[in-house]
Amino acid sequence: MLYVILIVFSISGIHGYTDTKVRRFKDDFLFGAATAAYQVEGGWDADGKTESIWDRFLHSHPELIPDGRNGDVAADSYHKYQRDVEMLRELGVDHYRFSISWNRILPTGFTNNINEKGLEYYDNLIDELLKYDIQPMVTLYHFDLPQTIQDLGGWANPLSIQLFEEYSRIIFERFGSKVKYWITINQPNSICVEGYGGKRAAPGIGSSGIGDYLCIKNVMMAHAKAYRLYQKDYKPKYKGSVGISLALNWADSVNNNTENVEATDLYREFTIGMYMNPIWSNEGDFPPSVKKRVLERSLEQGFTKSRLPELNAEEITLLKGSADFVGVNHYTTVLISKSEKQYPSPSIEDDMGVEITFRTEWKTSQSFWLKSVPYGLYKMSIHINKVYDYPPVFITEHGWSTKKVLKDSSRAKNMREYLHALLLAIEDGTDVMGYTAWSLMDNVEWTAGTSERFGLYQVDFDSKEKTRTARLSALVYKRIIEQRIIEHDWKPKNLNISITRSKKNVRVDL
Ligand code: NOJ
Repeated sequence: MLYVILIVFSISGIHGYTDTKVRRFKDDFLFGAATAAYQVEGGWDADGKTESIWDRFLHSHPELIPDGRNGDVAADSYHKYQRDVEMLRELGVDHYRFSISWNRILPTGFTNNINEKGLEYYDNLIDELLKYDIQPMVTLYHFDLPQTIQDLGGWANPLSIQLFEEYSRIIFERFGSKVKYWITINQPNSICVEGYGGKRAAPGIGSSGIGDYLCIKNVMMAHAKAYRLYQKDYKPKYKGSVGISLALNWADSVNNNTENVEATDLYREFTIGMYMNPIWSNEGDFPPSVKKRVLERSLEQGFTKSRLPELNAEEITLLKGSADFVGVNHYTTVLISKSEKQYPSPSIEDDMGVEITFRTEWKTSQSFWLKSVPYGLYKMSIHINKVYDYPPVFITEHGWSTKKVLKDSSRAKNMREYLHALLLAIEDGTDVMGYTAWSLMDNVEWTAGTSERFGLYQVDFDSKEKTRTARLSALVYKRIIEQRIIEHDWKPKNLNISITRSKKNVRVDL
C-alpha cells in the first residue's frame, strides 16, 4: 500500500498532476484537423473564381497585414490538395474540416452561373479523402462572401438569407451523397461583430451597435434556412448531420464583486447566449438580458426602438432546434470586469459595458488574444450543459499560434492540456462527438497574414512548392489518436512522420 502511495505521489510530483487516473477517448470519438478556403486555397482568381470580401479587403488594405501575405496564393491548396490529404493520412485523423468558397461555385454570387471547375475541385478533394476513409466535414461559409452580394449590403441585407439558402442547395445537391458532416456557418459573431461592427475584418463596415446586430439576425436565419432545407430534401436520403460552428470562448469574472459577476453574466449572454439561445434554449430567441439592455440603451440614445432586430414568432420557431450538434470553436478565456470607460455610443462595446483583461500568469501565444487556460474549455462545456441541457458537441476548432518553428512544444503542451480538460468534461457528462485541431497547416490568419502560425504542419510560404513539414505537435497528435490517451511526457525520436491511413478501412504502421 505504502509502495502504491509512493508511486502515485512521485508521478504526481513529476507531472504536476495530483490526479493519476488514465482517461481514454472512446474508439468512436472522432479526431480531425481543419482549414478554411480563403486561408489555404490560394488560386484566388483561378478557373473562374471571382472576388470575395476577403480578396477585396486585403487587396485594398495591404497595410493591415504585418508580413504582407494575403490569400492570393496562401498554401496553394487549390493545387496541392493531394499533399494535404497525405498529411491527414500521416496524422491518422478520422475527418477533415474544410470550407467551400462560394465564389468558386457561383462566380456572380447568384445561381445564374454555376462554375463546374469550382465544383470539380471540391469533388476531387472529397474523393481523395474518401479513398482513405477520411470523412469530409464541410463548412458552407467561412467568412468569404462574394463581393457582389456585399455590394448589396451583404449580411446586413435580409436578401442574404435566401441567397445563402440557394447556394446551400447547390452544394447539398452536388456533394450530399458523399458528405456526412456539415457546418452551415463559421463563427457568426466574428462575421458580424468584427466584419460589420468593426473595421479590421472584411467587409470592414464599422457600424458597431447597428450593422453587427442586423448581420447577426440574418446570419442566424440563413443558418436555420439551410438546416431546414437539408432536413427536408437531403436528410432522408443521405442521413448526414448539420451543425453551426460558434466561437465559444470562456469568460470568468475578475473577482467576486457583484457588479463584475453581473457584467460577466451579461458578457456571456452577448457572446454565447446570443448564438446558443435561438437554437438551443426552450424559449428560443435572443437572450432576454441582451434584448433588455440594447432596448434601454437605444431609447436613451434617442432611437425609437431597439437597435437589435426582433425575431418574430415564425423566425423563432424556424431557429429553435435547427442544429444536430453545436460546433464549438474554443481557443481561450478572458477576464471580465464592469467597465469604467466610455465607449463610443452606440456600439456593442457600450451595450456590453465590460472591460476585458487576461491573468498575467496565463501563457501567451503568438496572438495577443490567445492565452492557454485549459480549465476554460471545461467550464464552457459545463456551462452549456447546464444552460442548454447537454447539447451534442463537436469541437470544430481548437488551436494555438507560434512563430515559424518546427519544435513547437508550446502547441503540443497546449493541445495535451486542452484535450485533458475535454476528457474531464466528457467524464462529467458532456456529449462530445469529436475534436478538430486548428489547423492542419499554417495559413493566412486573416489580417495577421502568416505572422501567426497555427499549423500542425509548417508551410514554407517562400517556396514555390509551399512545402509542408510536420511539426512536433503533428507527431504528438498522431500519437494521441493512436493511443487514445494523453501521455504528457511522450517525445518522438525525430520529426519523421509516416503514413497511418493507407487504403479504405485499413490502418497501417501502428
Ligand atoms: C477561428 C476562425 O474560424 C479561423 O478562421 C481562425 O484562423 C482561427 N479562429 C484562429 O484565429
